[in-house]
Amino acid sequence: MERSFLMVKPDGVQRGVIGEIVKRFEQKGFQLIGAKLIQMSKEQAELHYVEHTGKDFFERLVSFITSGPVFAMVWEGDQIIALSRTMIGKTSAVDAAPGTIRGDYAIHTNFNLIHGSDSPESAEREINNFFTEQGLVRYTKSI
Ligand code: CMP
Repeated sequence: MERSFLMVKPDGVQRGVIGEIVKRFEQKGFQLIGAKLIQMSKEQAELHYVEHTGKDFFERLVSFITSGPVFAMVWEGDQIIALSRTMIGKTSAVDAAPGTIRGDYAIHTNFNLIHGSDSPESAEREINNFFTEQGLVRYTKSI
């Protein structure tokens, strides 16, 4: 079973769309196995965005993601990495299609509400940056 790290960014928390975002992934059929509202440290943010180190928007990105609480989640399901990215929409606000989370809620690329892992390797690194294996809950759906 594939896992992905999904995170409602500070703008999404401020705008009160945690519930709407969780609803979309539940509705799709994915399983939530870990979640917490946290204030990221600068070190944690730099590790989360390590692939963007040195880019012109890196400092702004770290500053924004640490500007307020984020809602960090681990979800599980078949092909969740690719499917969740389709549901999230394109990074650029002008390219994010209506019906996607960013397409429905974001008007600026820097404030695009949600992060989703882009590969199994990124998902593992990102999950480990926020959760221990003991902090995740595996359970079987019985209803
Ligand atoms: P995300 O894909 O979650 O992670 C990197 C973030 O950097 C991205 O969302 C955008 O919010 C932000 N960003 C700002 N400028 C750019 C850019 N030119 N290219 C990619 N991401 C950018």
